[in-house]
Amino acid sequence: FLAATFLHSLFLPMPFLLLIFCSFATAFQEKISFKMIHTASFYNDSWVKIQNSAWLDDLQTHGWDTNSGRIIFLRPWSKGNLRKEEIKELEEFFRGFSVVMPQEIHKFASQWKFKYPFEIQVTLGCELNRGGAIVGFHQFAYQGSDLLYFQNNSWLPSAKGGTRAQDMSRLFNQNHAMKETVQRMLSDTCPRFLLSILDAGKADLQRQVKPEAWLSTGSNPGPDRQMLVCHVSGFHPKPIWVKWMRGEQVQQGTQQSDILPNADGTWYLQVFLDVEATETSGLYCRVRHSSLGGQDILLYLEHHQGSVGWIILAVMVSLVLLTALAFWLRKRCLFPHPP
Ligand SMILES: *[C@@H]1O[C@H](CO)[C@@H](O)[C@H](O)[C@H]1NC(C)=O
Repeated sequence: FLAATFLHSLFLPMPFLLLIFCSFATAFQEKISFKMIHTASFYNDSWVKIQNSAWLDDLQTHGWDTNSGRIIFLRPWSKGNLRKEEIKELEEFFRGFSVVMPQEIHKFASQWKFKYPFEIQVTLGCELNRGGAIVGFHQFAYQGSDLLYFQNNSWLPSAKGGTRAQDMSRLFNQNHAMKETVQRMLSDTCPRFLLSILDAGKADLQRQVKPEAWLSTGSNPGPDRQMLVCHVSGFHPKPIWVKWMRGEQVQQGTQQSDILPNADGTWYLQVFLDVEATETSGLYCRVRHSSLGGQDILLYLEHHQGSVGWIILAVMVSLVLLTALAFWLRKRCLFPHPP
């Protein structure tokens, strides 16, 4: 019944697919994947919690309402070019999957030595490579480690899956209808849906938003040392290059945080440098991003101190001038008509 889902659904003529691909190959220059994640948390032999979601790389595109058994479309373009009936079919598939799969797992739990409580994760998706090829993938994990994967129309045990994985793959491979359906989803349905949402979401996915950057100092890592922090926020898309530098030299100790999501769909990052407090001269943070069109952001530590120095100097000069003016005026007032 998997077959009933996307099949015959997303037919796009070949030249159109090529066009979509070419525009994305130049815009992303990277791999991009679409995948569905099914997570089942088995608390005991009668209680399981199901979560389904779908992701375009790091961006969640679909959620799942367990109560109503309906797909939640998280982006305006998450439907791609799916028609209403196709969405209904998909929902039926996921509802079925979310009921049948846990029942089977409960049934075989003792045979496969699954110990309650445990977690099963299933991913099914496809990846568009730089060269334009789209490769499907499908994995099955127990307690966070891979057990099975799908390749060349059959289930295979993962290297570290042991006899449990061998048992399971043997059993799964007996279900020919299921294998055929999975194969079709990986090689046909998923690639077409991936291209379809890439096209529908083009304006959003390819938008260029410039980062803002600023410097701060973190807590001192040790006596006579300083932690310099370069913050970069609000950029899109995600790929970015940020380094602490001196002249043309990237500083060896540069460390980077994870790239974290902002609520508005842009990204945030911190880049650290642990230095001797006396060795900070000439250091700057350099930010390179596609939205900046080759005009890197350069933030110098010294401009900070330098500008404070200039302000102090300007204030002092003004004070001196004002004092001089006051003296001159006073003199003019006291002695209006010098002899
Ligand atoms: C299974 O776990 C749920 C949630 O923790 C609990 O409410 C239920 O009583 C448990 N059932 C059994 C048979 O242990």
